[in-house]
Amino acid sequence: MKNKSKLNSFYYGFPVFMVTTQDCDGINNICAASSSISLGEKIIIGISKGSKTHNNLVAGSDAVINIPDHTLWEKVEQVGRLTGGDKLSENQTKWGVEICHDKFAKAGLTAEASIDVAPPRIAECPIQAECRLVSISDKGRFILAELDIVNLWVENPLLGENGIVDSTKWKPLIFNFREYDTVGDALGFNVKYGN
Ligand SMILES: Cc1cc2nc3c(=O)[nH]c(=O)nc-3n(C[C@H](O)[C@H](O)[C@H](O)COP(=O)(O)O)c2cc1C
Repeated sequence: MKNKSKLNSFYYGFPVFMVTTQDCDGINNICAASSSISLGEKIIIGISKGSKTHNNLVAGSDAVINIPDHTLWEKVEQVGRLTGGDKLSENQTKWGVEICHDKFAKAGLTAEASIDVAPPRIAECPIQAECRLVSISDKGRFILAELDIVNLWVENPLLGENGIVDSTKWKPLIFNFREYDTVGDALGFNVKYGN
């Protein structure tokens, strides 16, 4: 038997990423995030309105999608409690969010220059995708930003002989109903595994 549950808590768990953007004054920002779809050379991310990242994207910033592994969960949580904006909403005050214009320094993360976009990569993240902003769709309380990957970087030890990520060496950070988790041993392999 099943009971009806509250729709606002239906956040069933996605891999975490940190998106870097840049504002018109050249100030870099990092946002902890987990709402994304990735297919082919495209990544679509969901970003709440009112955040600094929202403002940067609406102003036309490109983005880097930095993928942390499970060991970085505390840094992600720290970054998630910071905003690069100038004022706090009632909810942000309630959750203890702080204003911070240099999240790299505050969280002890290292900025690494990107090759083709302005926002920097986060050196501690083993996978990084430099992306061009293609479009933004307004979805009410949030936006969907469509990004095209222009450069994909992967830490060498994670790559298999075929030049793609060897999943057996990768322990992602999963935000499982807002609990930080990773994955266990493989249950099985898809017919297209390794391609
Ligand atoms: C693990 C995690 C996942 C998050 N996922 C998202 C997300 O997908 N979209 C979003 O807009 N905010 C997400 N947040 C909240 C933002 O990180 C948070 O609102 C942050 O203060 C925004 O920073 P900014 O105002 O500098 O852009 C997430 C936070 C954490 C810790």
